Amino acid sequence: MNILSIETSCDETAFAIGAVQNGHFKLLANTVSSQVKVHQKFGGVVPNLSAREHLKNFKPLLDKTLTQAGIPLKEIDCFSVAPGPGLIPALLVGTSIAKTLAFYHQKPLVPIHHLEGHTYATWLKKNGELRDDIAFPALVLIVSGGHTQLMLMQDHLHYEILGRTLDDAVGEAFDKVARILELGYPGGPLIEKIAQKGNPEKFQLPRPMINSDNLDFSFSGLKTAVLYVVKEYLEKKEMVPTADMAASFEQAVVDTLIAKTQKAVNTYNPQSLILAGGVAANTKIREAFIEIAQKRNKAKEYSNYYPLQAYVPELKFCGDNAAMQLPAVFFRLEKYGKKKYREGWRDVEAEANWGLSS
Ligand code: KG4
Ligand code: ZN
Repeated sequence: MNILSIETSCDETAFAIGAVQNGHFKLLANTVSSQVKVHQKFGGVVPNLSAREHLKNFKPLLDKTLTQAGIPLKEIDCFSVAPGPGLIPALLVGTSIAKTLAFYHQKPLVPIHHLEGHTYATWLKKNGELRDDIAFPALVLIVSGGHTQLMLMQDHLHYEILGRTLDDAVGEAFDKVARILELGYPGGPLIEKIAQKGNPEKFQLPRPMINSDNLDFSFSGLKTAVLYVVKEYLEKKEMVPTADMAASFEQAVVDTLIAKTQKAVNTYNPQSLILAGGVAANTKIREAFIEIAQKRNKAKEYSNYYPLQAYVPELKFCGDNAAMQLPAVFFRLEKYGKKKYREGWRDVEAEANWGLSS
């Protein structure tokens, strides 16, 4: 069985094709067309422009994906799309393409929540096969441009949301701080790069909600704290120490994410830790996340517990892509069968604020 997945939730047009043979999954093609250059001059994604770009790019990219996989469109047995959450003009393009393809070819259409996709990116090994070593319960930390949340998975496709951001998402905070520091867009990779040359202890920035007794996050105060310090420098007509500020901001984010994840680990005792979303590309966050498991496995008080294993997604599957949806499609078809999704072209609708549920 060949599955074709589509992603257009924000500013990447993406397709992927996977094959399932004798119960084994293999990724055959994964293509992404980024619109960063189009949105850069606006300092952020312009939803209507992104829809226009998706429309312009989808056909050549679809052709490229089919060529990469060596499979003609008529041999696709199942389609998939992320109909939400995301920017509605952008989601409408991918969802309409997916519905049209599924209707025309009379094949099932499997909708995959964008965050379910990010979560399942970790199941994709570098060679495109599926990991079979991730044990449940798994604790998932999603860090993307639109979301920041901790979830507990007791099994495949089963999500209990433990905490989420009350204001800005962590990726959004990276992007806003990059704008304050006049680094450009998207901010995450730019902050990470310049932070390597900075002193993370130069500025004592807040670690929001780090001591609160829940698993929620808040990043807008941290961004405002950066803004105030920068303003002070500008008022004094002094050069802003950009690298130090980027490093201090990044460190505050790492400390906050890790403290909350650590708290959730202590409460729920998962067997696996999973990092997901575009911000999962950040080296400091990846390293600190892996360290949670290493430290716990060494700690005497947890010597009677099963070892905790941390997993981070391959870099190529961190940012928005369509390949990450495919493991989720695989497990959905395994659990519910193709029949459930036969009329998908009729049922699936783009939904900007689609909530993730089991
Ligand atoms: O998951 P994603 O590709 O899109 C959404 O679903 O939102 O995440 C995009 C976010 C952007 O805010 C971008 O600045 C951030 O991920 N990002 C990073 C890094 N690479 C991308 N943030 C920190 N460090 C990075 N290396
Ligand atoms: Zn995303």
